[in-house]
Amino acid sequence: MKGFIVTVDGPAGSGKSTIAKLIAKKYDLTYLDTGAMYRMIALYVLKHGVGLEDKKAIADMLEKADLDIDGDRFYLDGEDVTEMIRTPEVNRIVSPVAAIKEVRKKLVDMQREISKGKRTILDGRDIGTAVFPDADVKIFLVASPEVRALRRLKEYEQKGVKTTYEEVLESIKERDYIDSTRKESPLVKADDAHEVDSSKMTIDKVLDKISEYIEEKIGE
Ligand code: DC
Repeated sequence: MKGFIVTVDGPAGSGKSTIAKLIAKKYDLTYLDTGAMYRMIALYVLKHGVGLEDKKAIADMLEKADLDIDGDRFYLDGEDVTEMIRTPEVNRIVSPVAAIKEVRKKLVDMQREISKGKRTILDGRDIGTAVFPDADVKIFLVASPEVRALRRLKEYEQKGVKTTYEEVLESIKERDYIDSTRKESPLVKADDAHEVDSSKMTIDKVLDKISEYIEEKIGE
């Protein structure tokens, strides 16, 4: 298999990254977490104190931002920001930052460049629709907002981040709204994507289901 692309799109907390990592391991694919790339830009905006409404300043700044990915570590201007990009502060502004046209252009170009000719699984919001519309296998992973909020809350508790279920649910609903109603590449299911609802499924069940779709494709 040469140049095999699997895309996993879906809303925040649907389990995309957990599943994508497991699939990557099982089928020896490189995993690219595209959400982390948008998070790096959001952190860059926070660090430079630029207002979200100043889209021109953000677009200009992008030229200078040095993004680097090494396995599962993310570097911004040489600094390891892997943990910093997962804070509630970044969560709060990442959706509006990801809605900016120039931000998307830069990151989509990088995503295509990184994956060119490789065996890759990418997760995000627009991978099967905009980044790789000709991907080999497309998955659209969903789950109810309540289930997703509980999962995120658990992650925060493990990291010692103080927040409440209500706050997390609110933030998830807000991000869903922005991500799916924005003008540039909104979160929508590609016509040829397989929809998997993980609300009531174990991780193993989701893994089995997606493996079926991948093996179907490999067998073609
Ligand atoms: O998957 P995540 O929660 O880490 O993504 C963070 C944000 O980045 C999310 O609110 C929407 C945006 N995003 C996007 O617009 N396109 C992608 N391919 C991946 C993420």
